[in-house]
Amino acid sequence: MQRLEERKPARSAWALSLAMMGIVLCEAGSLLAQGVAKQIPVPPPPMGWSSWNSFSNTVDSQVIADQARAMVSTGMAKAGYQYVNIDEGWWLGARDAEGNILVDAKTWPALAPGDHPGDMASIVRFIHGLGLKAGIYTDAGMDGCSMYPDLGPPIPHVGSEGHYEQDFLQFAKWGFDYVKVDWCGGDKEKLDPAVQYAEIARAIAKAGAATGHRLYFSLCEWGNNSPWTWASNVGGASADIWRTSGDIVAPIVPHREHSGRLASFPGVLSNFDQGIHPEAEHTGFYNDPDMMVVGMPGLTDAQNRVHMSLWAISAAPLLVGADLTTLSDATRATLTNPDVLAVDQDSLGLQGVKVASQGNGLEVWSKALSAPGERAVLLLNRTGDAASIAAHFVDLGLDDSAATVRDLWSGKDLGSFNSSYFATVASNDAVLIVVRGRESKQTIYSPSAGGGMNKGQETGFAHVSSRVPMARVRVAYRNPGNAPRYAELRVNGRIATRIAFPPTGSEPGVIWIQALLDRTGDGNVLDFSPLSDPGPAIELIAVE
Ligand code: GLA
Repeated sequence: MQRLEERKPARSAWALSLAMMGIVLCEAGSLLAQGVAKQIPVPPPPMGWSSWNSFSNTVDSQVIADQARAMVSTGMAKAGYQYVNIDEGWWLGARDAEGNILVDAKTWPALAPGDHPGDMASIVRFIHGLGLKAGIYTDAGMDGCSMYPDLGPPIPHVGSEGHYEQDFLQFAKWGFDYVKVDWCGGDKEKLDPAVQYAEIARAIAKAGAATGHRLYFSLCEWGNNSPWTWASNVGGASADIWRTSGDIVAPIVPHREHSGRLASFPGVLSNFDQGIHPEAEHTGFYNDPDMMVVGMPGLTDAQNRVHMSLWAISAAPLLVGADLTTLSDATRATLTNPDVLAVDQDSLGLQGVKVASQGNGLEVWSKALSAPGERAVLLLNRTGDAASIAAHFVDLGLDDSAATVRDLWSGKDLGSFNSSYFATVASNDAVLIVVRGRESKQTIYSPSAGGGMNKGQETGFAHVSSRVPMARVRVAYRNPGNAPRYAELRVNGRIATRIAFPPTGSEPGVIWIQALLDRTGDGNVLDFSPLSDPGPAIELIAVE
């Protein structure tokens, strides 16, 4: 551990806020804290609906208007769902002589007096008129996934390659709030995703600057090139979410080809597993294990609840794939359970991690919540038999004292427990609880090397110890600028994670990240190197 007396002068509000989090400052550590330690606000994962899973390329204006209305009438909007995302199939690849996208006027008619058929601004105004947000879709290549259609004939040229600036400006001008950028065309052309998505991120930033309207950026290359290591800073800009796997299931469109297709529970588990990259979820960036299949053919109500629990514990985007006009009461209750949604949307923005595994397929997952001492905990039974699964509070980063437990699906407070809680979990089922206990102590470290904001200047922390392998790390830094600054974090020499440091004003701010501190004793080393010029000034870290 870094000697405490080597630290800089202290700041008391920082000390106070650390104390509230259960972090114990040693004497010199508390001297560190005489200013305002601001918790930097973290945007939650997006919540909404996407057309792909239930409508494939049959999506049209009617479908979108019906789904948007249903999002309101079912209570989904009230529960927090807001994006109505138009996925592939909305555009048939036509452009005018200047390269502007031409949209089929019959599929996208005018919806209000004064609107023009074939002007996507009309459907956006309709969606906005319901108090919702609108999403659109394109491909990074020349052709898109429509070259491999699930329904109907192949449709060429539905990608944005060669038109990035033009298309993203068009989407922003139409008023869209969100864009998903797929990779079928890029893959076919063997393009480099880091290069193409960097250009796209810059085009989105440019369109945002021109219109005052930044598109939320969903990057979709299925995790093939480890986007969790680069997508939060690509081309000097950020993607907000990135897919980590292929599709859970291909579309299931009633009365059309493949309408008998079923979503599968193993498919849900597999996408969940591929979406776990806790070191990459911080300050509002999220791994995206795909649109949910909750409420689609193939899953039971119990499996739907497990699916929802898995997405919530991993702070995944909650994008519903089911037809909102035909939701069963049970599905609606699953999708709108406020306690479960609060786990997903918690303002700390951290992903759950597996903290214990008893034998084969009996697992304990824990997600730190913003209230000190609170953890969402998933007891997951992947086996064919019912089993008892125990959550030990020390494994959750809490101390050994008593903690209260609430079951989120039954809504019952289960009482107070000493050092652990266990439950019998049915085969292929899960129990989702919130544990409220006391934070265990954290240790504060000041830099052992470097410091400063200039490119090429590393800030290093050596001799760092941790009680748990995937440790929560609180980072105090300054960014007096008005745009995020970026740094790479290399832990124990491994592949770096790119971290955004939003503006703090003149006082230091604090963000939470998670890092794999897997060396025993105090052998862990964390090196931050600025990616932007200037970078953030990293002042100290606190480690559980
Ligand atoms: C890919 C994506 C899906 C969907 C389809 C559209 O498969 O992963 O989410 O957008 O393309 O064709």
